[in-house]
Amino acid sequence: MTRHLVMDEPATKRVLDELPQSLTGKPMDRPDGPEKVTGTATYAHEWNLPGTVHGVLVRATVPKGKVTAIDKDAVMKLPGVLGVFNDERFLRNPAQGTANEAPIQGPDEIAYLGQPIALVVAETFEQARHGAHRLQMRYDVAADGVFDPEATNVPHERPEDDQLDQGDLDAAMKQAVSVVDQVYRTPGHNSAAMEPHCSIASWEGDKLTLRGSYQMLNYNINELADSLKIDAEDIRMLSPFVGGGFGSKLGISAEAVAAAIASRELGKPVVVALSRQQVFETVMRRSESRQHIRLAADADGKLIGLGHDSLVSNLPGEDFYEPVMQATHFIYTGENRRMNMEVARVNRICAGSVRAPGEAIGMVALENAMDELADISGIDPVELRKRNIPEMHPETGQGYSSRPFAEALDEGARRFGWDKRNAKPAQTRDGEWWIGMGMASAARVNMLKEAKARVTLNADGTATVETDMSDPGTGTYAILTQIAADMLGLPGDKVETVLGDSDLPKGSGSGGSFGASSSGSAVFLACQDIRTQLAQKMGMDEDDLKLDGGKAGDMALADALAGDAIVGNGHIEPGETSKDKRQATYGSYFAEVGVNAVTGETRVRRLTAVFGAGRILNEKTATSQCYGGCIWGIGMALHEELLFDTRDGHLVNHDLAEYHVPVNLDVPQIDVHLLEERDDWASPIQAKGIGELGLCGAAAAVTNAIYNATGVRVREYPVTLDKLLDQLPE
Ligand code: MOS
Repeated sequence: MTRHLVMDEPATKRVLDELPQSLTGKPMDRPDGPEKVTGTATYAHEWNLPGTVHGVLVRATVPKGKVTAIDKDAVMKLPGVLGVFNDERFLRNPAQGTANEAPIQGPDEIAYLGQPIALVVAETFEQARHGAHRLQMRYDVAADGVFDPEATNVPHERPEDDQLDQGDLDAAMKQAVSVVDQVYRTPGHNSAAMEPHCSIASWEGDKLTLRGSYQMLNYNINELADSLKIDAEDIRMLSPFVGGGFGSKLGISAEAVAAAIASRELGKPVVVALSRQQVFETVMRRSESRQHIRLAADADGKLIGLGHDSLVSNLPGEDFYEPVMQATHFIYTGENRRMNMEVARVNRICAGSVRAPGEAIGMVALENAMDELADISGIDPVELRKRNIPEMHPETGQGYSSRPFAEALDEGARRFGWDKRNAKPAQTRDGEWWIGMGMASAARVNMLKEAKARVTLNADGTATVETDMSDPGTGTYAILTQIAADMLGLPGDKVETVLGDSDLPKGSGSGGSFGASSSGSAVFLACQDIRTQLAQKMGMDEDDLKLDGGKAGDMALADALAGDAIVGNGHIEPGETSKDKRQATYGSYFAEVGVNAVTGETRVRRLTAVFGAGRILNEKTATSQCYGGCIWGIGMALHEELLFDTRDGHLVNHDLAEYHVPVNLDVPQIDVHLLEERDDWASPIQAKGIGELGLCGAAAAVTNAIYNATGVRVREYPVTLDKLLDQLPE
């Protein structure tokens, strides 16, 4: 049987709160933790299939043009080399992960420097790498490549569905008591997941198995099938452990297709792993942005106008653009509104989803502007935000689902000790350090995605959860185990969760913060299906069924099952509740920084963050996600920046030596607090997404604190020493 729920009505019956056991929400350890820390978890490169040979991608050394010749023969003569593959099925750049179709293909047309063109396969990795270095390609170079999104010769497109003109913003700006009219710039970012992308392809007849590191098997299998022009039924993808993705593994990337093509030809398993430089140069970047923000406020600091115009970039022909204004639409009030999105078409690496696409940078510029407004109007930054929380969605008139936004602001201020802040900048010194405090709001849209799961209550009274979901470090193994354990009245160690196999029921995949609530709902429904069947079998009313401590009422589960397993299926789909209400998650960040008066170096000394995301499914894994977001916020504020050569779009800092992410010494003890919340509109388990929320505004708390410390406003991220040094007060 299948329990199928289309989320058309709010789930006002909070089933998980009524069960005798409440493992869900608790900081349960990850069941996959011991395997990971002992090195026995099998990551993408670690399958060691007998007879595996190695492939290394060869990439374009020019930014635009055509490949006219590839000198395969010379490389074929090198020791160990088995084949040189160049095929029109190769991917120009990765899939976006939810398009469910082949990304742009055809390697002979070059659109950016670093684009995959060919694969050299050899007996060993070293031989393949040597062959890849030696492969000579000739090009017909096009002279009209464009590399700077803000240059005048670059074509701009204006996506129709992301333009807004409501009321009269210009008039509101004239009428306002306080205004902010500023431009902020954020640079490109790389996901920088710890595990580089890797795929191992092997064939048995017409059946392809691809082992690797992917976030969204449900979609990835169709992307791969379309790219290879084969049937999705003939593909199995395995991805039980994923060493981080942050959007970069939402879609399949070039190595997956190249490995599959070569393996079929050679009749051997082929592994293709990307180097760190290749991850930077051929996977996904977050677009840089130019954001023009206008705020018009009345004497009470209430917004009467709000403008947010964004310029981002991508390769020609790509649908994706960073949805920078995503939260600006609903977070603050103001009846006169203008928002324009422009996409510059440049010959740079493909821009795609990188952690919290949209809010990650959009909330940062907006929250800087709000800080400027607080400063100009003399209203406390926390109070200013609370005054601007709208009753109804200021554009659509929708109501909001559960929204503990003011609570997050107040609780953050309380925990941090915000009342000790001196609102006047550049007043506090600690030795040679200028000390300051800043805050920002967090907001991120909430999404529910279609997901299926199967749960088996085994005859021995244990249970098995199965879905093709991934766990890119987010805690999927833990939370699905917890939900099933509670629903079936079992201790956590009597539930086994099996993930990352495309033959299993299709989950939502991990992305956009929708994984836990969507796949968790599918598991919840599958368990409801089991409860119905079990009650029937026991000849009782389902409402009277008490499952607790491995027992059904007084009877041991194994006895109640009498030798039979029960299989339950769950299927969740989004419905009317996602249209009826604006569903989102909220929070606040409070930072204390020190800026060195001599060197201009910024150190984050304290960081407090409070988040509400509906029911928290596992306090430990949810908190970890928030730590990660806050750490990325520090990186965005102070370190992270993709640097492109303006002559050819070459990514100059293509590794972790030159692209700086925060390390332990950059990060203070972070105080993350999660609010107790249930959102009946979001999912049958009242949970919303939390993964990305920790990043959606975090950097602004740091840069607002820099302003409070020094009186210097840097509007071009990241705030490196050189941007502060000559402006610091005496
Ligand atoms: Mo999400 S962009 O897959 O972190």
